[in-house]
Amino acid sequence: MYYLNPRIENLYRIFDQNERKDFLRLDLNENPGGLPQDFINDVLKDITPQFVAQYPETLHFAEVLAKFLKTDIAHLCLVNGSAEGIRYVIQAFTSENGRIVGVVPSYFMFQVYSEMYGRDFVKVPYNDDLTMSVDNIINELTDDTQLLILLNPNNPMGNVYSDDEFKALLQVAKQKQITVLIDEAYHYFYPKTFIEYALNEEHVFVTRTFSKLFSMAGCRLGYVVGWPEGIRMVQKFCTPHNTNAFAMKFAEAVIENPEVLQSLIDKFNEGRKYLTDTLDANGYEHKGDAGNFIFIKTKTDAQKIVERMKSEKKILIKSYPNVGNFGTCLRVSIGEKIYMQQFCNALFELDK
Ligand SMILES: Cc1ncc(COP(=O)(O)O)c(C=O)c1O
Repeated sequence: MYYLNPRIENLYRIFDQNERKDFLRLDLNENPGGLPQDFINDVLKDITPQFVAQYPETLHFAEVLAKFLKTDIAHLCLVNGSAEGIRYVIQAFTSENGRIVGVVPSYFMFQVYSEMYGRDFVKVPYNDDLTMSVDNIINELTDDTQLLILLNPNNPMGNVYSDDEFKALLQVAKQKQITVLIDEAYHYFYPKTFIEYALNEEHVFVTRTFSKLFSMAGCRLGYVVGWPEGIRMVQKFCTPHNTNAFAMKFAEAVIENPEVLQSLIDKFNEGRKYLTDTLDANGYEHKGDAGNFIFIKTKTDAQKIVERMKSEKKILIKSYPNVGNFGTCLRVSIGEKIYMQQFCNALFELDK
């Protein structure tokens, strides 16, 4: 008898990310500008037929990355984008019907994976004023919870946890033997990190990506940080040669050229300042100081603005429904000033 996994049959997925190249892409928190062209050309000079022909070698890059993170390779699992690492942690550290606690709204793949593998995803919503109450998270950490997912900072809300809040969460998680996954996709836009916990404690993982500040979303590269035995378990899920040779080559080049990284940060900061100053000057409420994205409360219908931005202005942004007292609002990726100017001009024209 033919078999189809009913969970997959009923799973709702959105695959609308193609044909975006002719748009200003402010919808998926990529860097709309990207790495400098001469830097790309320089890296490509080293690509030989041999390099393309052979399976990717991970050891060298893992060592470069470990040095960059001041750790060793036993603490790292390279993955094809952090979305893959998140999936492996869920697969390895939760069971069928297992309880996973996470905040909403948040990165949607946590819920997608939970559904895909028949896990019970328990949602902790934000307060109406868009703050997150750590007590509300702790209240959901029951004895049968298997995984707590936190984001530092959260996408799309841009909230972060203080050291005390994080320690309180971790203490309860430890008491109840709950694995903790901290998604740090937006690290570097917000420097505070909980990676030390993933390096020094058991049952704490951090996932990171090269898609955001490193501006390499097209390459697909991320990593999971954790204690060596946990990392070995995560690694077992990886498909053979899961990380791309080109991705590792580019990532190594960025790591070895700190001035490139700094220039990405500087351009981003200039874009963010321009955007927030301009929104303030035009009477817009906004939220999100920590990632490379911002929530904007519109004056008219947010969903219509998303549609008109796409059809009339060739700008892609996202809307989110029921976001506290912001209602339905926009989430916009932040990039260099020129792109923020383009977005603001379009917003002020359409939002009236
Ligand atoms: C919070 C968060 N985590 C993880 C990811 C996945 O990133 P990637 O798979 O490109 O590493 C994203 C992508 O937008 C994200 O917003």
